[in-house]
Amino acid sequence: MINFNLDTLRGLSTPCYLYDLSLLRDTLAVIRKEIEGYPFMVHYAVKANANSVILEEIRKAGLGVDLVSGNEINAVLDAGFDAGKMAFAGVGKADWEIETALVNDIFCFNVESEEELMVINEIAAAKGKVASVALRVNPDIDAHTHKYITTGTEDNKFGINLSRLDEVVDQAVAMTNIHFMGLHFHIGSQITTMKPFEMLCDKINELVAHFESKGINFEIIDAGGGLGVDYENPEQNSIARFHDFFELFKTKLKLRPGLTVHFELGRSIVAQCGALISRVLFVKKTPHKRFVILDAGMTDLLRPALYDAHHKIVNVSAQSQELEKYDVVGPICESSDVFGKDLLLPETSRGDLVAIHSAGAYGESMSSRYNMRSLPQCHFIE
Ligand code: LLP
Repeated sequence: MINFNLDTLRGLSTPCYLYDLSLLRDTLAVIRKEIEGYPFMVHYAVKANANSVILEEIRKAGLGVDLVSGNEINAVLDAGFDAGKMAFAGVGKADWEIETALVNDIFCFNVESEEELMVINEIAAAKGKVASVALRVNPDIDAHTHKYITTGTEDNKFGINLSRLDEVVDQAVAMTNIHFMGLHFHIGSQITTMKPFEMLCDKINELVAHFESKGINFEIIDAGGGLGVDYENPEQNSIARFHDFFELFKTKLKLRPGLTVHFELGRSIVAQCGALISRVLFVKKTPHKRFVILDAGMTDLLRPALYDAHHKIVNVSAQSQELEKYDVVGPICESSDVFGKDLLLPETSRGDLVAIHSAGAYGESMSSRYNMRSLPQCHFIE
């Protein structure tokens, strides 16, 4: 969790995101240490936070990137990332996005359907290019996370069904403008136990062995992202469980030499280094409730409204030690614009500064201009 200097916060115009670059660097250093000496490559999932200062830190740490749109490709090119470290995923890639990736010779397309594979082959042929491709498999593993962020089960739109995989791999291998590299998986996000990743390792081993027996040797396996963070106790657990995560893949995966394993981590890299800072506009008392009305709303941080997500909320400028029960809400004209209900906070007054923690991932990147609000500003501390 970020340690604030109250004087620094007092000078900020709110609502704004505050990022602790030291915590981000410490997090990146842990990842580098964990993967050192292993044929592992971590791609940062840019969708979690595309802020250019954050991207710069991640580039300097040597990570690659996982991208889901043409604009993300352009953003990371501007940020100086090497195209050889770019993976491009997504169920619906537009032609111009495929062209942008091809023209820049990115490392790999993560392809989600037979239909997409054919289109990439055609566009690559027209451009005189060969597209490197991994096929995204839907491994039918339940990650036991929120239903909106589970991706690896059979009833969602992601990946190629296991029953079709042999045929699609054969098609990819035969296509003239496709260089087939291996398989891609991503079973969900905010996964807080290692069990689903263990099941993923078993599935990967099974598929690698199956295809090797058919004479198809993969160059890469992309295991996706999904490692969760501690939203309840960000101060005790400000760095995610990278050791347990990578240790599992190191010990469980049975891989022949020459095969590299790729990961696409987003949340676990950036969530804890960001907080949304807001000022209390009013404390409204009704016969039933006390509402803390903030100047930040769901347009700045959508996760609580969209997923009922919990973020730790702290009144950082409170004068009193006495605890009161409050609903903390935003100013947007939607009943779901709520950050927390029945929270115990020190007695809160107009003008107090509130920090909403663990907001570095899927916070700023999901902000919107609904109600014609301005996008949140951002500040950095070292
Ligand atoms: N790779 C793929 C193919 C993905 O779809 C995602 C996230 C990632 C990697 C990165 O996953 P992470 O390591 O961040 O869990 N807006 C939601 C999260 C949506 C995740 C979408 N895909 C939230 O705020 O919880």
